[in-house]
Amino acid sequence: MKIGICGATGYSGRELIRILLHHPKVQIAFLTSEQYANQSIADVYPELRSKISVLCQPVDQLPPKGTLDFVFLALPHTVSMKVAKVFLAQGTRVIDLSGDYRLSASLYETWYQHPHEDVENLSKAVYGLSEIFRDKIKKATFVSNPGCYPTAASLGLVPALKGGFIDPQGIVIDAKSGVSGAGRGLSLGTHFVEVYENMKAYKIAVHQHTPEIEQVLKNFTSANIHVTFVPHLIPLEKGILSTMYAFLAKKVKTENLVEAYQKFYQNEPFIRVLPLGNYPQTKNVYGSNFCDIGLQVDERTNRVIVISVIDNMVKGASGQAVQNMNLMCGLAETMGLL
Ligand SMILES: NC(=O)c1ccc[n+]([C@@H]2O[C@H](COP(=O)([O-])OP(=O)(O)OC[C@H]3O[C@@H](n4cnc5c(N)ncnc54)[C@H](OP(=O)(O)O)[C@@H]3O)[C@@H](O)[C@H]2O)c1
Repeated sequence: MKIGICGATGYSGRELIRILLHHPKVQIAFLTSEQYANQSIADVYPELRSKISVLCQPVDQLPPKGTLDFVFLALPHTVSMKVAKVFLAQGTRVIDLSGDYRLSASLYETWYQHPHEDVENLSKAVYGLSEIFRDKIKKATFVSNPGCYPTAASLGLVPALKGGFIDPQGIVIDAKSGVSGAGRGLSLGTHFVEVYENMKAYKIAVHQHTPEIEQVLKNFTSANIHVTFVPHLIPLEKGILSTMYAFLAKKVKTENLVEAYQKFYQNEPFIRVLPLGNYPQTKNVYGSNFCDIGLQVDERTNRVIVISVIDNMVKGASGQAVQNMNLMCGLAETMGLL
């Protein structure tokens, strides 16, 4: 398949290139960048020298219909929806990594503070949390790839909610992310001196991933879910660790909860439910498409504590996008990813 990546010079774009260079069924044929237009991607990322030498094009010079079989959009939100509609009108299959197609138009306007400009295609987008919505993804021609925080949080919470182990009310998600989650663009809040030896919470109660998490969880309960989500920036290059707290809905021991999770994810190649007494660490998923999940029941406080970790740029972005491409194309789900 001939593949295009719009936003190839960003962190997610670079990760897509890294993964797809090892994918046996694809050829990277088209890349975009505004800053580096007409330059080889190998000049932007010298580690790609002798591996790929495709020139970057500006996004307003998209190839004609029929040139590409599949396109990944690793563009900022609001930019993505302008480009997605062009490829979708051509009949090209698209996976969008931005937040542009994850929420309804009204939720989008509230949380992203920007009106939606492609409402027509919004209803066509299938939410690409691979393990949870696999059947729909397999039939999709347009997938909206989940956010990094929602991937870690949802994979951690869905089995507990679906199994009726936790109360849907009062869920707290305390999440920490490495700095690459903010993208490659320069900003005061993410440069070395500000971030090194520092930790901070940000966007408390207003982060745009909050309604996305709630939307996933609503599939598994009739209750009206509102989660408390507090993201933190920590001095790591990449990785997300999400610690989630929920009240028990029925009495259960940690070993039984671990067993229930292991059963829920028993056929999932990228989900590792850790044995009793083991808790996940970001280093164990670095550079991989795995999500590691650890569990503990705190009988004293009647709470379940779920910890999940992912690499924000792999399972949280480009790895999951390739997993979704594999599903959409009828390829082995793990192709290029293990
Ligand atoms: N980083 C993560 O962990 C992560 C995880 C999940 C989802 N995402 C989402 O994936 C998307 C890409 O994220 P990222 O972290 O890779 O961002 P990034 O590092 O900032 O890269 C953005 C890319 O988009 C291009 N771009 C920027 N403004 C543009 C414009 N106005 N028109 C056309 N192209 C433009 C940039 O090209 P030039 O600068 O070369 O011109 C670059 O290639 C975002 O929507 C983000 O929310 C990111």
